[in-house]
Amino acid sequence: MSETLIVYGTRYSATTEACAEIQKILEKEYNQHVEIWDLENYRACPDLSDYDNIIIASGIKYGKWTKNAEKYLSNNFEGKKVAVFISSAFAGDEDLHKYAYENFLIKVLKEYPNLEPIAKAAFGGRIPKKELPEFAKGPKKFIPKIASSQILTRLHENQYDNRDWDKIEKWAHEVGKLFNS
Ligand SMILES: Cc1cc2nc3c(=O)[nH]c(=O)nc-3n(C[C@H](O)[C@H](O)[C@H](O)COP(=O)(O)O)c2cc1C
Repeated sequence: MSETLIVYGTRYSATTEACAEIQKILEKEYNQHVEIWDLENYRACPDLSDYDNIIIASGIKYGKWTKNAEKYLSNNFEGKKVAVFISSAFAGDEDLHKYAYENFLIKVLKEYPNLEPIAKAAFGGRIPKKELPEFAKGPKKFIPKIASSQILTRLHENQYDNRDWDKIEKWAHEVGKLFNS
């Protein structure tokens, strides 16, 4: 049985739920023992030397990872299999997925050249209803004007949860196979 640690940073729990789904698949179908950890409590995080595989995840707010999830990327992962994903409203939007993948994931990982993930993904997100007005003020700052108007139109259609669970599950299977290979 291989040992897997999932660590994540979240502000509104969308990332937590994706991690829990991935944990379930890795345990049930890939015979892994999985520990899951919210990096809000960074200090007490399990020692990564006890694990063969690590999944690192973060929600995105105003274009940024949580502080602790990004800090975690600077660990030494030598000899470990590492997979990384983000939860981002833009990533769940057909027209903005590439923008989110490049800007919120690839660009951030470039800052940590020693980290060579075996799998990477940008999943959609969920914006709590009460945060929608705040979000609607934000996008113009982060994305090209045309895309920003597209996502705001969709918000009016009340699409505030654009997570694709099939995509998350498919990725968990992909990662499970890679971790066991
Ligand atoms: C105030 C606010 C700002 C946000 N900024 C972004 C952003 O810049 N890019 C993006 O893709 N999503 C943005 N989102 C959407 C979040 O990425 C989405 O809700 C994500 O699932 C949050 O993950 P978490 O619940 O784990 O924190 C924002 C949401 C809020 C409420």
